Amino acid sequence: MNLGRTKTIEQSIADTEEPVHQLRKRLGPVELTLFGVGVIIGTGIFVLTGKAAGVQAGPAVALSFVFAGIACALAGLCYAEFASTVPVAGSAYTFSYASLGELVAWIIGWDLILELALGASTVAVGWSSYFADVMKSAGVAIPDWAYGGSHNVVAAAIVLILTAVICLGIKISSQVNVAIVAVKIGIVLFVIIAGCFYIKASNYSPFIPPAGSPGAGGAQSTPSLLQDLGVSPGSFGITGIFTAAALVFFAFIGFDIVATAAEETRNPQRDMPIGILGSLGICTALYVAVSLVITGMVKYTDIKVDAPLAEAFRSVDKPGFATVISVGALLGLTTVMLILLLGQSRVFFAMSRDRLLPPAFAAVSPRFGAPVRTSIVTGIVVALLAAFVPLTELAELVNIGTLFAFLLVAIGVLVLRRTRPDLPRAFRCPGVPAVPLLAALASFYLMLNLPGATWLRFVIWMAIGLVVYFTYSVRHSRLVTT
Ligand code: ALA
Repeated sequence: MNLGRTKTIEQSIADTEEPVHQLRKRLGPVELTLFGVGVIIGTGIFVLTGKAAGVQAGPAVALSFVFAGIACALAGLCYAEFASTVPVAGSAYTFSYASLGELVAWIIGWDLILELALGASTVAVGWSSYFADVMKSAGVAIPDWAYGGSHNVVAAAIVLILTAVICLGIKISSQVNVAIVAVKIGIVLFVIIAGCFYIKASNYSPFIPPAGSPGAGGAQSTPSLLQDLGVSPGSFGITGIFTAAALVFFAFIGFDIVATAAEETRNPQRDMPIGILGSLGICTALYVAVSLVITGMVKYTDIKVDAPLAEAFRSVDKPGFATVISVGALLGLTTVMLILLLGQSRVFFAMSRDRLLPPAFAAVSPRFGAPVRTSIVTGIVVALLAAFVPLTELAELVNIGTLFAFLLVAIGVLVLRRTRPDLPRAFRCPGVPAVPLLAALASFYLMLNLPGATWLRFVIWMAIGLVVYFTYSVRHSRLVTT
């Protein structure tokens, strides 16, 4: 299964020991878990729940969260084994370099750009609307030209501000993150507890609306690949649960990013699995509770698509609660962007260190102990995307890229167990080969539940990546030049 040049694990670890390329080890298990929660809870639960419940799964959206959560936990076990075996920056990219060869590593790195950079841009665009909404409640009108249509100045500005925070070093970033994560979890718990008082049992009936019943699909819904192929009848019904799962999968994106901080973790062997699985467990429980509360408060056919959590409280005459939730969502989206940007700069850093991208980007600033150049380049590109491209419709593209990375990581665990059984693994994925195989199958099944148009865009993006690899990276790679 080795598809090309491979960097040995020992070489990957040795790379991190050159002082100019060294990141500071400052993170522990609690910081990692908070880091995970900081990026996991965001647009997925605050925004996408509305569409998933309203037109795809009905109240059974809670089951969609469970399915997506299980798929992520399976992939998380694979990530945790990799992260505790290869404790270097770069996440799935680094892991696959050591197990599946340079070409596959490049494909994954390119794929992660889709997840992290495009994800950050998407969340930035959502952030700008929430910002305008909150400012309006405070009596300050943000003009349309600053955040609407084709030039989103507000979205670009928040990206650049967060880039500056990242450049000051990861410790400062995680302190900012800890404060905001606390507020975010508080808001989610507030929705769950306050919402419980407004649940009407009749709203849960039917819990799984029949396939094709009124409201199914809806104007905003694009048919999944399985629907295009005529294999799935579409939304609502049992299949609707999976269509919604493929969408709300976005809500879980981020737990894998914890793995990108392995090199900055004091004891990665012990702390990585805690960070990844801990943050995933906390978020799954919160999502299931939130979705049950929202679908209990509002009939699924009446759930709003844009700000479903705040709207649920407006619908029970609690506008003050709705404003509090909007402010919380705003803060929540901020940490998501912060960590997506951080993860992206680390993947970019690892790829430049291997000279698959220009090596100038791999230098760590002696003053801040962080890869400042990659952070700045990442920030500018993400700000430009957020400013000029209406990206909300591309959330599915982020999902397909991430699911594909999960698929390759799961296969990577199996390959590495066969090719390097001797390596010490502080965390061993249980149930091999069943767990990695199930992780790969669940990821692939979710990919099939995404729209055909998303598949097409994904294939085009990957084709561009291969062109870059074969025209630049293959000749400059560290494996050739040293
Ligand atoms: N999981 C993150 C969110 O839902 C990406 O915004």
